[in-house]
Amino acid sequence: MPEDHANPGSSSSTATAGAAGDGSAVVQFEDVSIAFDGKPVLQEVSFSVERGQTLVLLGPAGCGKSVLLKLANGLLKPDSGTIRVFGEEIDKLRRREVYALRARIGMVFQESALFDSLNVEDNVAYRLHEERVPEAEAHTRVVEALKFVELEAAIDKFPSELSGGMRRRVSIARAIISHPDLILYDSPTGGLDPITSTTIIELVMKQRDVWHTTSLVVTHRLQDAFILATHRFDPATGGMKLLPKDGADGGIDEGTKFLLLNEGKIVFHGTTEELVRSDDPWVKRYLE
Ligand SMILES: Nc1ncnc2c1ncn2[C@@H]1O[C@H](COP(=O)(O)OP(=O)(O)O)[C@@H](O)[C@H]1O
Ligand SMILES: [Mg+2]
Repeated sequence: MPEDHANPGSSSSTATAGAAGDGSAVVQFEDVSIAFDGKPVLQEVSFSVERGQTLVLLGPAGCGKSVLLKLANGLLKPDSGTIRVFGEEIDKLRRREVYALRARIGMVFQESALFDSLNVEDNVAYRLHEERVPEAEAHTRVVEALKFVELEAAIDKFPSELSGGMRRRVSIARAIISHPDLILYDSPTGGLDPITSTTIIELVMKQRDVWHTTSLVVTHRLQDAFILATHRFDPATGGMKLLPKDGADGGIDEGTKFLLLNEGKIVFHGTTEELVRSDDPWVKRYLE
């Protein structure tokens, strides 16, 4: 395992750039297309996510959001186009090289995808066990990750004993355990009630504002997207606070960008202000 992953304070695993990104693309899609059984799912999709940015991916069910994330971590290969992750063409790499790249990516799967037969500690430590990290160190890191998601007390519990929101927290702890340089969140609030959803978005925000980890966040909830765009994690309270409208950034987190997909095509890619001011009829209807 690369040394920098073992050290949360190292400069390479925590972007030193500001939250607005420093112009180096962590994820880059160029004219990416993929079809299943002859049915196009993504069509000539191009966008990039800069270091330190949070790209919120919105769109109706079935429009290709999960497929896009699976392409980004090499679980699927495109039919055409180029996908670069950390500057490497992920679909052209050998299996072992893909694993090395994936070690730098944290993935929060839709529906949490926890192992029912493993307790919280072993679920969170899964990757560390695979990397043969010594047990004592693994335990320390599990506790650290569980503290981050405020779930230390559940370390010995099994997934069946947890609420949906707690399972999502475990899944986030598992994704951040190796201090990834990129996190892919697939519908982290899917299936949760509105209040629990907000607590999960708060965690996504905490990761963004404490570690400045580059992220792709899939959500079907516009509200999640706007909370991320207008709030910042507040270390003083451990919660979030609204960015003041009269601040230098006009009350908008500059590092949060939006990508709207519909029927496999990008209908919008830009900032929060551009999104709310968009004249595009589809975008306007989507925002209603
Ligand atoms: N492995 C697969 N094989 C066949 N079809 C798939 C596969 N994965 C996704 N699809 C199809 O691709 C489309 C987009 O799926 P998905 O990305 O999961 O949508 P969502 O935006 O809801 O996450 C859907 O029509 C889905 O049925
Ligand atoms: Mg999905």
